[in-house]
Amino acid sequence: MADSNISKRGGFGSKFGIIAAAAGSAIGLGNIWRFPYVAGENGGGAFLLINLACILLIGIPLMLSEFIIGRNAQRNAYGSFKNIAPGSPWRFVGLMGVVTAFVILSFYSTVAGWTMEYVFQSFANGFEGKSPGQLIGMFAEFKGSSWRAVTWQMLFLILTAGIVLAGVQKGIEKYAKILMPLLLVLIIVLCVRSVTLPGAEKGLHFLFHPDFSKVNGSVILEALGQAFFSLSIGMGALITYGSYINKKDNLVSSAVIVSFADTFIAILAGVAIFPAVFAFGINPAEGPELVFITLPNIFLQMPGGYFFSIIFFVLLAVAALTSSISILEVVVAYFVEELNMKRKTATWVATLSSAMIGILCTASQGLIPWLQFGEMNFFDLLDYSSSKILLPFGGFFIALFIGWVMKPKVVIAEMSNNGIFKIPLFKVFQIIVKFIAPAAIALVFLYGIGVIG
Ligand code: TRP
Repeated sequence: MADSNISKRGGFGSKFGIIAAAAGSAIGLGNIWRFPYVAGENGGGAFLLINLACILLIGIPLMLSEFIIGRNAQRNAYGSFKNIAPGSPWRFVGLMGVVTAFVILSFYSTVAGWTMEYVFQSFANGFEGKSPGQLIGMFAEFKGSSWRAVTWQMLFLILTAGIVLAGVQKGIEKYAKILMPLLLVLIIVLCVRSVTLPGAEKGLHFLFHPDFSKVNGSVILEALGQAFFSLSIGMGALITYGSYINKKDNLVSSAVIVSFADTFIAILAGVAIFPAVFAFGINPAEGPELVFITLPNIFLQMPGGYFFSIIFFVLLAVAALTSSISILEVVVAYFVEELNMKRKTATWVATLSSAMIGILCTASQGLIPWLQFGEMNFFDLLDYSSSKILLPFGGFFIALFIGWVMKPKVVIAEMSNNGIFKIPLFKVFQIIVKFIAPAAIALVFLYGIGVIG
């Protein structure tokens, strides 16, 4: 019986633990790597504004919804739906989340591997004396022509598995607490250097001056998908974490705090990147390599840049780890509780399967040129399909589930900890999850893929 596994479930120890763990999941490559690259490809200011609207209107309520489902059901993503709505097809929403976790972990580990290479290059002083053009060439050569990237990716996946194996409390909480504040400090240092570069105003203008003539359906869908990706919502990662949350913790304030912190870091990353992008004559629409070709330029222009560079890329790799463990945990919790696997077996089976897809992602950057689908290589395809299709679908159903399937009495009890906290905005929340979020997601999706518009 799976029950013996379920009774042994771990839990987060303290209030700070849940916020740190959820923020650890949310804050990662999505903020520092993905946000600048997607914002750059989608015109900057207007994208940011729409992204913020998506976070406020849909993101925060959905994060809260995932916490509620998980803590109420005390199960993994699949088991939570099964538990709350037994015998119904809703559990397939959870199953889709497990599949999405595989997809995301596969390309996420590629980028995390790139980050580790840049830790190595920082140590080896590999950026020294290179022009912006040479730094672009250096990255292209690294990602496209060697097995190095795959090796780093495997190392990253092994680290992720190691932490997940240590279990929820010892593994996840301990690491998240200490290092994230440090990352914040370092990004602020980078911002200061970046905005004082000659020509920096153009970057700030790009990021903060909305030009709505660049907005179309695809930009809006990107902004929505980026909100989901960055907040870790839409696939049950926060359902899974929610199931570890202490019954005394305040879900509403946790969701609000985590969402704001996550958004703040993404904006700071933008302030660190875009002024430098323009100052060094880099194309803001460069794509997934944007931060890897921009940041070394900033470090080269900083006193103590050698050390800052090492510390920054180490912390970025750690931020990626605290996110990737939350992705892997979705699969592991499912394997353990639903398929009755041992935690150890579950972790290695999940990691190995994801590694196999992941290798293809990394190799599609040049090593295996035929892994190409039209304009997109395999990496782009997984990145695209997760944030533009899978996460929005997941979010759509999670909103409907909270709004229409779960009893309001149960939702209120979970949100207020059985009446201990006041929830004055419950009506607003209810209208959002019942109507606004599902309708907005559906419209944005259909408009974004060109079905309507
Ligand atoms: N949000 C993380 C980041 O910004 C990535 C991530 C972790 C994620 N868990 C997730 C994305 C669940 C989507 C769903 O780096």
